[in-house]
Amino acid sequence: MENALRYADEHQDRFTRELEELLRIPSISTDPEYADDVQQAANWLAAHLRSIGLSGVEVCETDGHPIVYGEDLRAGEEAPTVLVYGHYDVQPPDPLELWDSPPFEPTRRNGEGSEEAIYARGACDDKGQMFMHVKAAESYLAEERDLPVNLKFLVEGEEERGSVHLAPFIEEHRDRLDADVVLISDTGMFAEGVPSITYGLRGLTYVEVTLTGPGRDLHSGLFGGAVENPANALAHLIANLHDEDHRVTVEGFYDDVRPLTDEERRTFRGLPFDEADWREEISLKQAKTEEGYGVLEAVGARPTLDVNGLTSGYQGEGAKTVLPAKASAKISCRLVPDQTPGDIADKLERHFAANVPETMHLEFERLHGGQPALIDTDSPAMQAAADAMEGVYGRRPFFTREGGTIPVVADFQNLLGLDTVLMGFGLESDAIHSPNEHFGLGRFREGVESIIRFHERYAERQ
Ligand code: BES
Ligand code: MN
Ligand code: MN
Repeated sequence: MENALRYADEHQDRFTRELEELLRIPSISTDPEYADDVQQAANWLAAHLRSIGLSGVEVCETDGHPIVYGEDLRAGEEAPTVLVYGHYDVQPPDPLELWDSPPFEPTRRNGEGSEEAIYARGACDDKGQMFMHVKAAESYLAEERDLPVNLKFLVEGEEERGSVHLAPFIEEHRDRLDADVVLISDTGMFAEGVPSITYGLRGLTYVEVTLTGPGRDLHSGLFGGAVENPANALAHLIANLHDEDHRVTVEGFYDDVRPLTDEERRTFRGLPFDEADWREEISLKQAKTEEGYGVLEAVGARPTLDVNGLTSGYQGEGAKTVLPAKASAKISCRLVPDQTPGDIADKLERHFAANVPETMHLEFERLHGGQPALIDTDSPAMQAAADAMEGVYGRRPFFTREGGTIPVVADFQNLLGLDTVLMGFGLESDAIHSPNEHFGLGRFREGVESIIRFHERYAERQ
């Protein structure tokens, strides 16, 4: 391991220059215009996996964007097998005018904490974090000629659109994907220098609701007062989705929510969270949580309902007197165990159908979803990850639950019976999905080192 660590240290500069090559490819999975770029990113990654000496490298076509696979099984039957998952697709970069450097021209500059960082879409989520695993493997293969564990890479190109073709792929290739544990770096760490391992992720259900009134936009003077306005009506429906305690009013919404245990609440309270710093980082006047829950609990362990986009009527400059024909809202719910995306979408649909004004027609469309996940923190793999991070940061990581969603984590649990270790290195200030996404070079280095240490520690512990 020492040789691999030294190799990683010596080659850090080349590693990050290679990452920049991948970051130049605009692999935006949600926009069909970029399909060629997504394919190109997959090809680039496959070529790279071959170049570091992995075998069985393949760009596997799906009904959507391809999945890249590669492995090294030379550690043999005695050694455990680690399945590394990541995604090479990225979110759209808009609004473009808010970027200080173009999103697909990776640029190095000093971020808030004066740490040098790479600015580019995908720098943190997830090209940068995924690539740390590739470089950790390379460090072993180049320096020691073998790995302490068997390693399999599964890197997909559709995470940002809900991993729609991944579950069937996993089912079809269960033998090839057989492993002892899944290792993912696609989450956050508590703070700079404060490592954490994520043991819970929220799920997601995403829908679009459209109310249609008249058959066309109308003059609001000629018709206003006699025609019910879909924008007014949708606003009313949305306003009633929460009560005064900020709880969701959809019938049965909380039925399957697993309550927080006293121990979990103690753990949440024990985290070194500074609400004032958190507010300042997002320029927020005041936090607003469901009655009875703190910020970390609300984000990590309670379900939500949020409007993500709202469209109706005239959106241009100046005034236009119009009574819009339709109004629509993109709405997503973050879910916690044991809620499921399908059931919550059913409940939402029933809620809207029961409350739509008689004057209007309702359309309810399901976009995508993902199951929530909770992972046992006592497993050998979790403890190996904690040891590995302690080796790098000089302190034991905290175990946290995070509010984001990685749909495949529950799929690995349900389809393959595999636990996942979420060893993340992102910071909230990295601005994933936002303009000026970046990833600190220091954290890239710490990530590679943590992964190198994980493999050795896990091989010993298993
Ligand atoms: N890597 C994120 C999820 C994440 C980020 C989890 C930080 C925990 C901490 C992932 O790429 C993502 O953005 N997921 C989407 C879900 C998907 C179905 C579109 C999300 O959470 O919105
Ligand atoms: Mn991600
Ligand atoms: Mn993402």
